[in-house]
Amino acid sequence: MAKILVTGGAGYIGSHVVKLLGENGYEVLTYDNLSTGHKWAVLYGDLIKADLADKETLRKVFKEFKPDAVMHFAASIVVPESVKNPLKYYRNNVVNTINLLEAMEEFGVKNFIFSSSAAVYGIPEKIPISENAPLNPINPYGETKATVERILRDLANSRDNFRYVSLRYFNVAGADPEGKIGFAYPEATHLIIRALKVAKGEIEKLEIYGTDYPTPDGTCIRDYIHVMDIAEAHLIALEYLLDGGESDVFNCGYGHGFSVKEVVETVKKVTGRKFKVIEAERRPGDPPFLVADNSKIKEKLQWKPKYDDLEFIIKTAWDWENKLKKKLLD
Ligand code: UFG
Repeated sequence: MAKILVTGGAGYIGSHVVKLLGENGYEVLTYDNLSTGHKWAVLYGDLIKADLADKETLRKVFKEFKPDAVMHFAASIVVPESVKNPLKYYRNNVVNTINLLEAMEEFGVKNFIFSSSAAVYGIPEKIPISENAPLNPINPYGETKATVERILRDLANSRDNFRYVSLRYFNVAGADPEGKIGFAYPEATHLIIRALKVAKGEIEKLEIYGTDYPTPDGTCIRDYIHVMDIAEAHLIALEYLLDGGESDVFNCGYGHGFSVKEVVETVKKVTGRKFKVIEAERRPGDPPFLVADNSKIKEKLQWKPKYDDLEFIIKTAWDWENKLKKKLLD
């Protein structure tokens, strides 16, 4: 079975992909500096605790493990932080990706799967957004993802022995339905996680950032996708590349969205808790609508999402949230 090197495999999305790879018989090696990831989240294969800036360790890993493909999740992901500290984002997300690509080149590794983001589109002109919409990021985080996509395009054009798939995630949420892993970041900025922490009493109130958007209820609409469906998309993208598929870029979303108010109501329903919600100012840089056109990944890769159900997404995240404290003490 193929050997897969997973950077960021101890993080939220990476750990779900490692689980799926392991369950499907792949040989997995996780490379993670554990800055936001956790050792316990790596359910299959070994973990190398190292940074992508450490080229010597990276070369050693390529030399010894000899991967057939690389999946690259390791990145900084907090949009407001990227606005305050762009150099950190360019170094970690762009420079470190170049280190990884150079190691692949040196050791002749051909296949690469990249964690991109709907943030590359910025404020889209048309909804749903298709992959050929212009890349117009509106924050440094999105810029770093768009920059890496351009690097990948140029690299693939420059040689025959490098192919990649870039997956542009929409709003990833939920947790492993078996409850072994889930979101465990030090900071909670995402809507569903914050709402669950308010429901639990860990945060006093939930703020709705803006109620005057041009949407039916005035709050922003997002395409929330279950993390296990994202993980599945990686698996089929990997099979596609290993079968000799051409380099390509795919949206990962369900193709329909929910408003902030709808998400809040669903969190109340699923948790059975009442909590304090207040209307607040708009958060800078939030597009009113972000919904994927997912026809390309469905047609070309035969991706069949299993968990397109907001209540299920929130239920798995809630079950996980209730286990998390204990896990963090392990
Ligand atoms: N929101 C609130 N209150 C909160 C948190 C969020 O009202 O406490 C709102 C936001 O303003 C936004 C929506 O809920 O309208 C979703 O916000 P998230 O922070 O959960 O997610 P984003 O859509 O801002 O961003 C996410 C990822 C990015 C990625 C983007 C692409 O965090 O990395 O999706 O779709 F780029």
